[in-house]
Amino acid sequence: MTNAYRAAYDLSRSDPERFWLDAAKAINWINPPKRALDDSRPPFYRWFPDARLNVCFNALDRHVIAGRADQPALIYDSPVTDTVTTFTYAELLELVGRAAGVLRDLGVRQGDRVVVYLPMIPEAVITMLACARIGAVHSVVFGGFAPAELAARIDDARPTVVVTASGGVERTRVIPYKPMVDEAIERARHKPDRVLVVQRPQVEAEMGERDVDWATAMRPGAVEPAGCVPVAATDPLYVLYTSGTTGKPKGIVRDSGGYAVALQYSMTHLYGMQPGDVWFTASDVGWVVGHSYIVYAPLIVGCTTVLFEGKPVGTPDASTFWRIVQQHRVRGMFTAPTALRAIKKEDPSGELLKAHDTSSLQTLFMAGERLDPDTWQWATDMLGVPVVDNWWQTETGWPIAINPVGLQRLPIKPGSATVPSPGYDVRVLDERGEQCPPGTEGAVCIKLPLPPGTLPTLWGDDERYVSSYLSAYDGYYLTGDGGYIDDDGYVFVLGRTDDVLNVAGHRLSTGGIEAALSSHPAVAECAVIGVRDQLKGQVPRALVVLKAGEQWSTLTDDQLDTLRSELGAVVREQVGAIATLQQVDIVPALPKTRSGKILRKTMRQLADGDEALVPSTIEDASVLNDLRPVLHP
Ligand code: COA
Ligand code: AMP
Repeated sequence: MTNAYRAAYDLSRSDPERFWLDAAKAINWINPPKRALDDSRPPFYRWFPDARLNVCFNALDRHVIAGRADQPALIYDSPVTDTVTTFTYAELLELVGRAAGVLRDLGVRQGDRVVVYLPMIPEAVITMLACARIGAVHSVVFGGFAPAELAARIDDARPTVVVTASGGVERTRVIPYKPMVDEAIERARHKPDRVLVVQRPQVEAEMGERDVDWATAMRPGAVEPAGCVPVAATDPLYVLYTSGTTGKPKGIVRDSGGYAVALQYSMTHLYGMQPGDVWFTASDVGWVVGHSYIVYAPLIVGCTTVLFEGKPVGTPDASTFWRIVQQHRVRGMFTAPTALRAIKKEDPSGELLKAHDTSSLQTLFMAGERLDPDTWQWATDMLGVPVVDNWWQTETGWPIAINPVGLQRLPIKPGSATVPSPGYDVRVLDERGEQCPPGTEGAVCIKLPLPPGTLPTLWGDDERYVSSYLSAYDGYYLTGDGGYIDDDGYVFVLGRTDDVLNVAGHRLSTGGIEAALSSHPAVAECAVIGVRDQLKGQVPRALVVLKAGEQWSTLTDDQLDTLRSELGAVVREQVGAIATLQQVDIVPALPKTRSGKILRKTMRQLADGDEALVPSTIEDASVLNDLRPVLHP
């Protein structure tokens, strides 16, 4: 067997110019790239600096021109509203052209930002592509975030227009979105000119002076459709906010040309999908997985993408995914381990699965958090197809490590995301910046430059980009994950080395939750740790020190219970329901180093019942010792 992976990987390292210019041929350019990498200003690297294109053209127009007009582009499958609607490439193009015209008429110009706060409805995909069409920069905010989080993103992105819906339909209730947008704009310093509102039958939004009704604006004939605006390959396509350790989210910038090339390459050569294949990613357009593999990659390649509004369980039951695979003849599917654990809990022996014909499915891809070997084994046994882990992050936009089934299927090692994708020079470094020997754990880093499609910087903040990612080890990008590479070159990612939480495949910041807790008048200081959870991987747990003095030190048990509920409510209100605290403990003090850093990692290890590493710089070991029984009774 030829080693197609090795050949591709080696070429991407030895001659990246040739490798990426070659990959770029699969994209339609207005000005094709003559060179791949601009490395004239390290550590800031740009890809395809002399090229121009339009990403929406590559996702829609070119397929219509090439004869795919009548092929389904998007299947909206929504068990929560009992709807399945198919849009062909021609139909989607028509809607996106009109939506682009609407945005343009609302004053959105090339380079302007559009914040998108929408549930999983076709208008989300249409708005993203409409922005791409006119060179506007979209910033999608996950619907589970509360108004304060949305306001922070509005203030950073400074959008001309916000696009939202009257509400989202969750498993057990309808969540009105529009009041949250109104509150966010009220809180934000920046005020967008217009709010474009999709009214849904399940909930009606009250409209104000600033608001524009989507259906009215989109009426055929009401708007002149907009054509594709040429943009530089280095122009931003979107900004996607992600959680760091502080409360201030990081605006990950995604460029246009490098991203299009990386997605085209990864969808075909890594995920093994071809034009016409049906692809189903069960995530949310609010996350990077949704941006890359619900919207852009499948459409750029000419696949049919399934947009799923529902949950793995409870909508209506644990067979939803398998029903979708059967009904739409899905060939490639992508989900998060937590979703499979939820299904496994309800249908451990796969009875619901067996009742469906899933024979169209060739591969199940998993990402968003570590794929634990038990879940991998269960899914493999149940489905009888390769279950492929892939590791990446909002920052990279596409897999850093994967089993590259499109090139060659490598043997699977449970617990490993397999091998580095072509273009990524993955190294595991120790504290001194030396490379760890195979099998030894350290900080997983990527040697610069990062490949096309990865973040060129943070939105409006080059300095933070350098200090967050590039300053720990000179010449390397710090992923924030710990892990090791084994003798065969397989990458094992074990978890974050910083204080970022991963709850049900959603990345949350300890700092953000702590800031919410600190806004309660009783709180002197607090720490949030992500503790292990069977279903969600991690859940946030809070340790809170109350202010000194009469008022808080004399609370009865009942009053303390009320306080704990209030603290839980403040987090849901300020961060969102996805950050719901598992537990709040009122404690006398928090363990710290002599320089005042709270020992979150040590507390997390104790709470999980793992061996805890107590740093020699601890200020007062008795504080930690007193906490041990609280953390792990
Ligand atoms: N808009 C508004 N609220 C949302 C939301 C959204 N898009 N998504 C979740 N929420 C709310 C839920 O309504 C729920 O609120 P509640 O506590 O008032 O009921 C809360 O956030 C937590 O929701 P969820 O994380 O969905 O937990 P759950 O216990 O209802 O379901 C799982 C558990 C495992 C089924 C669910 O977390 C899941 O589907 N996970 C997979 C996520 C995923 O695909 N991640 C991949 C990213 S790549
Ligand atoms: P996000 O930016 O929200 O996609 O989160 C990225 C983080 O999720 C990574 O830094 C990892 O900590 C974790 N992660 C994502 N995919 C995997 C995976 N396949 N294996 C292990 N961790 C993962």
